[in-house]
Amino acid sequence: MYRFRRLRRDERIRSILQETRLHPKDLIYPLFVTEGMDSKNPVESMPGVFQYSIDRLDEILEQVREAGIGGILLFGIPHHKDPQGSQAYAADGITQRAVRFMKEKYPELYLVVDVCLCEYTSHGHCGMVNGDEILNDETLPYLTKMAVSLAEAGADMVAPSDMMDGRVAAIRAGLDQAGFTQVPIMAYSAKFASAYYGPFRDAAHSAPGFGDRRSYQMDCANGKEALREMEADIAEGADIVMVKPALTCLDVLKEAALSFTLPLAVYNVSGEYAMVKAAAERGWIDERRIVMENLTAMKRAGAKIIITYHALDAVKWI
Ligand code: PBG
Ligand code: ZN
Repeated sequence: MYRFRRLRRDERIRSILQETRLHPKDLIYPLFVTEGMDSKNPVESMPGVFQYSIDRLDEILEQVREAGIGGILLFGIPHHKDPQGSQAYAADGITQRAVRFMKEKYPELYLVVDVCLCEYTSHGHCGMVNGDEILNDETLPYLTKMAVSLAEAGADMVAPSDMMDGRVAAIRAGLDQAGFTQVPIMAYSAKFASAYYGPFRDAAHSAPGFGDRRSYQMDCANGKEALREMEADIAEGADIVMVKPALTCLDVLKEAALSFTLPLAVYNVSGEYAMVKAAAERGWIDERRIVMENLTAMKRAGAKIIITYHALDAVKWI
């Protein structure tokens, strides 16, 4: 019998031997920016998460800076929505204005911006629509325009989350042509059609007006297909590929870590956050221990970057 317990006897030896350690720089904090003035709107299904107007951003950005986390993933919520999502690539769109504000006032924060049309389209889909169909190739120029306009505003990195085929190549070419060869792409590559995005769609006002996203996001039954999606995005020029959601996809993340050498990201999504917060509020689970266990498992499975709404709490617990 081997005595494993010899190395578990007390905290000193346990902490020496801990294989996976979280660091604040592992974490990226998602942030929602809304139009208007003096707004800090709570997202009901995500306790502790708010939509901020630009003039109220200092409050949260100072906390982010203080926390020493890796960076921010920005989502803009426009007032005006139309079928083409024109505010997604307007030079003075809410997201572009927020990016300019942050670059000016918080240049030390690394700013990743989500590239997708669903917050900006009146139908709430991630691409152009014809009848019931979500168009692929017709959508690519709009995503490219959006990515370029965000780079022009000062985004450090763009993160396409739309799941159209060929979008990484299109965005890469667009960025390069506009002179942004140094702006990396973090692709939401293995993005599953998941019920765990429910609270986010309240937060970002991006629920589809008809149908669902299953003709472009992946079936969560498909692990091999997820690897092919990642291979394709890598071939198209992605600098980082993402697996999403996190907790139900750690197997995919692990396989990616064994198959690829580029950095991997994982998105600990809104529904995962909401479940933890709801149970913790009732005293049914220990929030601190659950959050640290979840985030550690994501890193253990192979994530270099963890995008999480728990980021500001987690750094206090690391
Ligand atoms: C937009 C987008 C979504 C999320 C990130 N970017 C929602 C969706 O695809 O419906 C989900 C994030 C979360 O649930 O926390 N395409
Ligand atoms: Zn979308």
